[in-house]
Amino acid sequence: MDATEIAKDINIVPTPQDEDHEVNWEDEFQELMQTLPKEKSWYGRDLYFYQGFWCPFSVFKAVISFQKHFQALDSDIFVTSLPKCGTTWLKALTFSIVNRNQFAMEQSPLLSLGPHQLVRSFEYDLYLNNPCPDLENSCVYQPRLLSTHIPYASLPPSIKDSNSKIVYMCRNPMDTFVSLWFFTDQFRPENVKPSSLDEAFDMLCQQIHAFGPFFDHVLGYWKASQEKPNKILFLQYEDLHENIISHLKKLAMFLGFPFSEEEEKHGVIEEIAKICSFGNLKELDVHKNGTHISGIRPNTLFRKGKPEDWINYLTPAVVERLKKLIQHKLDKSGLTFKLSCKSPEQDYA
Ligand code: A3P
Repeated sequence: MDATEIAKDINIVPTPQDEDHEVNWEDEFQELMQTLPKEKSWYGRDLYFYQGFWCPFSVFKAVISFQKHFQALDSDIFVTSLPKCGTTWLKALTFSIVNRNQFAMEQSPLLSLGPHQLVRSFEYDLYLNNPCPDLENSCVYQPRLLSTHIPYASLPPSIKDSNSKIVYMCRNPMDTFVSLWFFTDQFRPENVKPSSLDEAFDMLCQQIHAFGPFFDHVLGYWKASQEKPNKILFLQYEDLHENIISHLKKLAMFLGFPFSEEEEKHGVIEEIAKICSFGNLKELDVHKNGTHISGIRPNTLFRKGKPEDWINYLTPAVVERLKKLIQHKLDKSGLTFKLSCKSPEQDYA
C-alpha cells in the first residue's frame, strides 16, 4: 500500500464517494438543525437542544462525529464534567497519577503543555475540524486520557460498553454559574451587550446553558456512578478542596494506579497535589503567555479557584431561588451539594 492509499484508508484524502458522503452528511446536518429547538445563550451564542441537552453550535458537528466514530479501548480513561466544574484540575490530577512513573515530577509535560493538551477534549479539540481524527498519534501517552462535556446518556456506546473508566467532576451550581458567567464573556460577540449576572441566572434557572440542563447532567453521571461504581467515579470540587490527599488516593485506586506505601512515605501524593494546584498551574508559561487552547484564552481558565465565591456575587433572592431548585431537583437522589466548605487541613495552593 503506498502513502496515498494509506491516507485514503484513514480518510485523509476524500474520494468521490467521500465527497458525496460529505454532501449528504452536510444536508443531513442542516436538516437535523432545522428540527431542533434553538436558543441564544446570555453571551449571544446559539445553543441547539439535541438529545436532551443544549449543544453549542460551535461544537455541534464535532459532537455528532464523536458519537458516530469514536471507538473506546478498555484501557481508556475519560475525564467528564460540565464546563467550569474543575475540569482543568481533574485533568492535571489524572494525568499526574497515571504518568507519575514516566518522568520526574519537575520534568512532567504538564508543566510545559498544561492539562488541556495532555487530556484532549473530543468536541473542542479532536473532532472540532475533523470527523475522523488520528487518535493514535494524537494521544502520545498511554493509557489514553480524553475528555468531554457531553452528558452520560449521549456518550458513544463503546465508552459505556467497554471496560474503560470515567471520572466525573461536579461542583455546586452556585459557584459553577458564577464561574461560567465570568468565563463566557470572552465568547460574547462585540455587538452583544454584556448580560447582568441576574439575566444570566434567569437563563441558568431555566437551565439553558452549554451542555445543560445542569441537574440532568449531574444526575445522569451520579446515577450511572451508583449503578457502576467500578466504571464511574463521581467527584465533587468542594471535596477535593477540603481534602486533596484522600481524594488523590481514591482517584488513583479507582484508575488502577494506587499509591504504594513507599510512595506515600516519600510524599509523592503531596507532590502531585502541589504540581496540580491552582497556584502552580496558573503561573505556567503555557497559561500566562499561551495564545489559545481550543479557542479559549488560557489565562481565563484560572480565576479564583476557591469554593464559596458565590457569596460575593449572588443576591439573597437568587440564592433562595437556587436553593429551592437544588432541593427540588436532587430530591430522593441521594446527592447533596456543599455550598460552603471547610478550610483544607493543609493548603497546597
Ligand atoms: P473559578 O472561576 O471559580 O475560579 P474548568 O476547569 O472546568 O473550566 O473550571 C474552572 C474553574 O476551576 C475556575 O473556577 C478555575 O479558577 C478553577 N480551577 C482551575 N484550576 C484549578 C486548580 N488547579 N485547582 C482548583 N481550582 C481550579
